[in-house]
Amino acid sequence: MGRLSRKDEHIIILLKQRPGLADFSDIHFVHNCLPERDLDEVTLETSLLGRKLGSPLFINALTGGTPLSKRVNAALAGVARDCGLAMALGSQMAALDDPLVEDTFKVVREVYPEGLIWANLGSYATPELARRAIEMVDAAALQIHLNVPQELAMREGDCRFRGTLRRIKEIAAAVERPVIVKEVGFGIAREQAKLLIEAGAAAIDVSGRGGTNFMAIEGRRSRRPLSPEFLTWGLPTAVSLLEVLDAAAGKAEVIASGGMFSSLNIAKALALGAQAVGIAGYPLYLLIKRGRRALFREIRRIERELRHILLMTGSASLEELRQVPLVITGFTGEWMKQRNLRHPRKEVGGQKSEVGGD
Ligand SMILES: Cc1cc2nc3c(=O)[nH]c(=O)nc-3n(C[C@H](O)[C@H](O)[C@H](O)COP(=O)(O)O)c2cc1C
Repeated sequence: MGRLSRKDEHIIILLKQRPGLADFSDIHFVHNCLPERDLDEVTLETSLLGRKLGSPLFINALTGGTPLSKRVNAALAGVARDCGLAMALGSQMAALDDPLVEDTFKVVREVYPEGLIWANLGSYATPELARRAIEMVDAAALQIHLNVPQELAMREGDCRFRGTLRRIKEIAAAVERPVIVKEVGFGIAREQAKLLIEAGAAAIDVSGRGGTNFMAIEGRRSRRPLSPEFLTWGLPTAVSLLEVLDAAAGKAEVIASGGMFSSLNIAKALALGAQAVGIAGYPLYLLIKRGRRALFREIRRIERELRHILLMTGSASLEELRQVPLVITGFTGEWMKQRNLRHPRKEVGGQKSEVGGD
């Protein structure tokens, strides 16, 4: 089965199940009954890789390379434009192999000429391919995705993983745009995040477990029985975010994604220290099942609720949200303890946190 039909199969299988939501139930805000701010003062502006964003939400890498994906990309770009969101393309390898399908990616730039568009390639990419992918859409950044479990679960998967870090280092040194390294739904741990940052990644997108599950999707595609316990492989998004924040420590920006389609979870991820939040499977599902208008309205609803959450924590901006108290309990708190992860609020008010440590 070639890459082109695989991309369509991913969409078709995704539509059979409503994508899941990440679990941030161990992260708690502390209600502020005296915010001393008006709702119209609250802004969701953020910056990422030196660019200003009106909203911390962006549409993460999804698709390209087929007639169906061209229609999907055009519709997603329209919603991204109307909502003022950044948007990442799906892997452009198909178009680098066959220039005849470049239009399935370039349509995003046509629909959203002023947009902040990110290119996307797998870790097999070379500096030359990376340059071509960026040029194709005049991308502001390049995403490189890591997807070992997915390749292993695919019948036609490429299981040669040696040299990934070296290639990322070469690309980061060669291209003039920042490199974002991302997972596809299995999360990134502190140790690998450190290596990726040392290799030159300007941002890490954790893309953790909880939303789109490529082990399940590829298991279904290949019709090879997969032991059910593999369906829960990977780092949950909240845990991966804490791992990567610990590694980044200001040296790289951190993006949360993986089942992030709830305003409260998005707010918690931003409060922990994520600079932006990527959404992929759920917006695609909504777009195809209920149309562009429904997706537009859902994004607006999330942004409205985000403003409400900011206000209820006493914050007028995402910067202020990053200072509010947070309590981390349960599995996530225990994970932080055992992994000795830094609590994002350790310094707040000079108080030591309950979990984590140096
Ligand atoms: C149909 C589909 C296709 C995807 N294709 C790509 C891709 O080409 N490149 C990539 O980096 N990630 C790809 N992803 C992964 C997403 O960008 C994201 O990391 C992952 O789905 C987790 O986010 P979510 O739970 O919001 O879907 C794809 C996801 C879906 C649902």
